Amino acid sequence: MKKIMFAFVVIVISIASCSKKSAPTAAKETAMDGAAIFANNCKGCHGADGIKDSRTPNLHTIALDKAGLVNSITHGKGHMPAFEDKLSTAEISAVADMIVGWHNK
Ligand code: HEC
Repeated sequence: MKKIMFAFVVIVISIASCSKKSAPTAAKETAMDGAAIFANNCKGCHGADGIKDSRTPNLHTIALDKAGLVNSITHGKGHMPAFEDKLSTAEISAVADMIVGWHNK
């Protein structure tokens, strides 16, 4: 009987620790990506919040959908460099999602 109780406790503890480990990691990755990519690659020209000055468009109000954002970030525009060699497709998608998120605020 003691052995069964012990096995039960071990199973409960291992299930509990598994679910604790996976949940926060997944949330952290999705929350982090776009903002971190923006801070590392775009902030210098666009400002931390995407609104800097008259040389760069206000990214909160720019009339581009996600496909348009991805296209401009990938291939560049005017004085803005292309990011196709610097960022992966997934990274460009994540930063575009973040800008779309600003539009929806
Ligand atoms: C070297 C400075 C610089 C960097 C770095 C930069 N941008 Fe830009 N960005 C600009 C300028 C300047 C424009 C205005 C281009 C124009 O309309 O001629 C612009 C325009 C844009 C536009 C509007 C494009 C359009 O089609 O109208 C978006 C969206 C944008 N940037 C997003 C980003 C993102 C996201 C990053 C980081 C991955 C980034 N930019 C990095 C300078 C920069």
